[in-house]
Amino acid sequence: MRIAMIGSGYVGLVSGACFADFGHEVVCVDQDGGRIAALDAGKMPIFEPGLEALVTENVKGGRLHFSTALKPAVAAADVVFIAVGTPSRRGDGHADLSFVEAAAAEIAGAISGFTVVVTKSTVPVGTGDKVEAIMRQTNPNADIAVVSNPEFLREGAAIEDFKRPDRILLGVEDERAQAVMTEIYRPLSLNAPPLLFVDRRTAELTKYAGNAFLAMKIAFINEMADLCEKTGANVQDLARGIGLDGRIGSKFLNAGPGYGGSCFPKDTLALVRIGEDFGSPVPLVETVVASNARRKAGMAGRVIAAMGGDVSGKRIGILGLTFKPNTDDLRESPALTLIEDLQTAGAWVRAYDPEGMEAARGMLEGVVFAHDEYDAAEGVDGMVLVTEWNAFRSLDLARLRGLMAKPVFVDLRNVYRDKEMEAAGFAYFSIGRPKGSGKGTERRAAAE
Ligand code: UGA
Repeated sequence: MRIAMIGSGYVGLVSGACFADFGHEVVCVDQDGGRIAALDAGKMPIFEPGLEALVTENVKGGRLHFSTALKPAVAAADVVFIAVGTPSRRGDGHADLSFVEAAAAEIAGAISGFTVVVTKSTVPVGTGDKVEAIMRQTNPNADIAVVSNPEFLREGAAIEDFKRPDRILLGVEDERAQAVMTEIYRPLSLNAPPLLFVDRRTAELTKYAGNAFLAMKIAFINEMADLCEKTGANVQDLARGIGLDGRIGSKFLNAGPGYGGSCFPKDTLALVRIGEDFGSPVPLVETVVASNARRKAGMAGRVIAAMGGDVSGKRIGILGLTFKPNTDDLRESPALTLIEDLQTAGAWVRAYDPEGMEAARGMLEGVVFAHDEYDAAEGVDGMVLVTEWNAFRSLDLARLRGLMAKPVFVDLRNVYRDKEMEAAGFAYFSIGRPKGSGKGTERRAAAE
């Protein structure tokens, strides 16, 4: 199949490279000439494990191309994917569809022969109808079918998620398009993921519902973590205790500093707006949004309390700036809120992240950027582990302790165990776990 991928950002680039790897012929299009030139030179615009090798291999194999020219790519394609951004509209949280709408109009003018146009971007209910209307208005003779095929990949595990999906969701209302989409995903049939054919609106809403549900699980376990702290219970054991119930499931029950990233914050907010627009509010999701905002805002207070109630003039080392490991993405990262709040409270911040430093320099002011995790500890009065990068999971504790002026360690991801940190001489603070707890979770048992 010949595929044109419109938008070479996160979803477009990963999907395009994976489709090429399936054997399809793919052109990834982007308006950003600099990005296309960099891709042509083999330089990835994002850090994603395995992406560079996958792109290089498929470019070499002649199946993957990059271009700024939408017209020829669309004219030659059997399937055109719209994978442009849908950021939160400034001020109101609605998804901003201007890029999707502009792409639809441009694609319509370039279509030749029967073409399936697929929205992969996360878009509000009814966007497929809108895309179809724009295309029919721009080019009444175009022979098109508009499909919704939301993406469920996670940053940091995107290629694995694309190649081994739990399901492929297809909002299709046209038989020819159903056959084409089946063919596009046929190479995955060895792994036998269910191809779920639903109507277009259901596909669009399912994407938001999925992200909102996962965000709700995280907000829930974070509230349980607070309750554990008050009651002397252990949130990791609690998560395991409920997660083993197959009706609940064990994933997305890690307590932490609140969810961030380019998806959950934007999509939960957009779902709230969709509920309002359709006169069917979603108060549970509204509460999740508020709960997560409170969570992120509460992290500085935790650090300040751990450091004796006042951080004015104190030096704090931060480990991890990205919203999760294995990405260079800082969007909505809890680390940003934490650092700004600590600075407001008068602290001096040193920070290190394995991949996020370049982006961080443009987003944070007054921070000293360290060159590794130990440099971040140099002379500080306390360390905070914010993102659970592998590099931070097996720190040389004696070395770290030796570099710090004061041995306070706040672990916002529960990477370490109370006993080992205290044995290493740290005043250790984690999330939702009682002090000195020795027994417990499988993870800790396995580590022991
Ligand atoms: C999320 C979804 O997981 C994907 O399925 C979806 O395709 C994607 O959004 C999207 O809509 O594009 P992503 O934002 O890349 O993926 O990252 P997640 O792994 O879901 O993590 C999101 C946030 O939740 C991170 O800040 C992470 O630290 C936090 N989190 C996650 C927790 O605090 N606890 C957990 O147990 C899991």
